[in-house]
Amino acid sequence: MPPPEHLREELQSVLIGEKEIALRVRELASEIERDYNGKELLMVALLTGTVPFLADLMRHITLPLRLDFMGVSSYGDGTTPGELVFTKDLRLEARNRDVLLVDDILDTGQTLHTVLGKLSDLHPHSLKTCVLLEKTSRRRESVTADYVGFEVPDEFVVGYGLDYAERFRNLPFIGVLKPEVYA
Ligand code: IMP
Ligand code: MG
Repeated sequence: MPPPEHLREELQSVLIGEKEIALRVRELASEIERDYNGKELLMVALLTGTVPFLADLMRHITLPLRLDFMGVSSYGDGTTPGELVFTKDLRLEARNRDVLLVDDILDTGQTLHTVLGKLSDLHPHSLKTCVLLEKTSRRRESVTADYVGFEVPDEFVVGYGLDYAERFRNLPFIGVLKPEVYA
């Protein structure tokens, strides 16, 4: 699918459209509801890329749910993973809770590996992960997500929360950035 006219200079294509995202997010919510079977969830979302995904996902989950955020940033301004910086800590108690960690994309695994380590030190009752997207080809840490929206190819994707240099988070679809934009 071609991107909208005003984005054609920067985006190569639309990889996942709005309707496809909405359908899949509902499916993920049903899977989560089924698996947790009435338990109370502590959803921990990583800032900032999870915002649209999280907002859609949580509204389709009817389980009792608490929400908290952790701030973690791995990319400076570009597309190569850098050092992880924590910018916000959990506020709610995670001990003995059923924690579901939500992130936008599982790429090298550095972020989830580090955050899962931090969360398990808090002794939750259970700890699972849900990501909207996953790129399996670039994995460096042995980490897998329990719930995955879509597997995407090894291209830089933006939209529906995902950014390039803090832009494009507001797109309602997921698009592929032209390599010449970040080359
Ligand atoms: P990881 O630590 O390498 O697994 O990377 C995870 C983080 O990198 C995500 O939370 C994103 O912020 C960012 N990231 C990785 N791949 C992409 C991409 O294709 N587009 C936008 N952000 C990405
Ligand atoms: Mg990012």
